[in-house]
Amino acid sequence: MKNPISLTARISLQFAATAACVLFAAGLVFERVGENQLQEHYRMELDGKMELVRNALESIPSSTPTSMMRVRLREAIVISHPGIAIAVAASDGTVLFSVGQSEVVKHLIEGAEIGKPTPVIWALDHRTYRIRARHLALGIPASQPANVAIALDITEETELMAEFMRLLWFSMALAALALGWLGWVAVRKGLAPLHDMSTTVANVSAQQLDKPLPAAGVPHELQELVSAFNRMLAQLHDSFRRLSEFSSDIAHELRTPINNMMMQTQVILSRERDTVDYRANLQSNLEELERMSRMVSDMLFLAKADNSLVAPNREEIDLREEVVKLFDFYEALASARHIHLAQSGAATVCADRMMIQRALSNVLSNAIRFTPEGMRIEVTIGENADRAMIAIDNPGPEIPAEHLPRIFERLYRVDAARREGDTENTGLGLAITKSIVEMHGGTIYAESAKGRTRFTITLPQRETV
Ligand SMILES: Nc1ncnc2c1ncn2[C@@H]1O[C@H](COP(=O)(O)OP(=O)(O)OP(=O)(O)O)[C@@H](O)[C@H]1O
Ligand SMILES: [Mg+2]
Repeated sequence: MKNPISLTARISLQFAATAACVLFAAGLVFERVGENQLQEHYRMELDGKMELVRNALESIPSSTPTSMMRVRLREAIVISHPGIAIAVAASDGTVLFSVGQSEVVKHLIEGAEIGKPTPVIWALDHRTYRIRARHLALGIPASQPANVAIALDITEETELMAEFMRLLWFSMALAALALGWLGWVAVRKGLAPLHDMSTTVANVSAQQLDKPLPAAGVPHELQELVSAFNRMLAQLHDSFRRLSEFSSDIAHELRTPINNMMMQTQVILSRERDTVDYRANLQSNLEELERMSRMVSDMLFLAKADNSLVAPNREEIDLREEVVKLFDFYEALASARHIHLAQSGAATVCADRMMIQRALSNVLSNAIRFTPEGMRIEVTIGENADRAMIAIDNPGPEIPAEHLPRIFERLYRVDAARREGDTENTGLGLAITKSIVEMHGGTIYAESAKGRTRFTITLPQRETV
């Protein structure tokens, strides 16, 4: 995979690009405004001079002979500006008046585009001129208007402006680079807590899952990340703890029946016995082996369910029918202890029949085990907003509140003392029930109070997972 560009580089580059764009736009505005100001200044200067010439031309009395006109105009047009050249020519081409550098005047007379609305720029002998040309009426009635052309030397100003712009662009480029660098420094500093955090996270090992990341001093943008990470750590820690407890429990669970079998077999083998004793020993070993085999297949089922290797084979199931079947199955066991099994309500679900039977059977067998003799177990079925609900309620010893959340864990039994020596129950029943229910998109929870324990299972009526 391509190495993605770092966050620091990404933000700094974006910042530098934005700064460069802003500076470039500011430079353009400067250039345009400066240029406009300068052009306005030239325009006013040329207009002023043109006005002067117009006044002079208009003030020539009609009696003045052409030869005297030059003298009159020279008297009227006083030019103080050294960079200005003016040429006034009569309509027949006779030069009436000229002032300024002879070369420029010559060009003015020959080339000025008289009457052109916008001033023209001329380059002559490495110098730049701004030109204004007009037809101006003489004060003499019925005379042809004179051609007037004025050149303003703008070389210094143009060079100054070009120099200024060069300097401006150079400083803008420097400023963009400096801003880019400053941006990089700022981003690095700003992202330092993220860097610190990743170093801390990198050091988290399986032994430190119970140590949350310190939230103090973390900028508030990262607070959410830290708390999410800490939540994940807590969950990991919990799963890790359960996993290690589970493996030690498995070892323990298997050791007890194996020890039992070993001891009994050693005792039997310690001397010569008759066939009845051997038979009894084999029978007892068989029971232990059956229990171990059940436990191993239960654990295999849970492991497969964990890895999504068991898929429910869904079909339409009438829960009431399934409960009736279960009652038939447990009838003998219940009636031996004079326990009455009652059911009410009905609902259908789309689920795996075998799995649902197994799930309900685990809960019902627990209920029968804990119900005192002669009492009654109630199974209530109902449905509510696309979900079927089945509650199994039995009288009997309460499950203490601190154990309630844990009874669905693997190998967990409330009475820890019964873990040893109890060959009947492994503590996997509710874990399997929960796994099956969740596989179907359902929920299961237990309540235990006032001498009654109730397990409630909800299942979606249509396939959701
Ligand atoms: N109806 C109930 N009343 C009181 N306690 C119960 C009830 N159902 C379950 N428990 C408690 O929850 C524990 C876990 O039940 P679970 O079915 O998982 O295991 P188990 O019945 O001990 O073993 P297994 O079902 O594997 O034979 C039981 O050991 C018991 O302490
Ligand atoms: Mg059980």
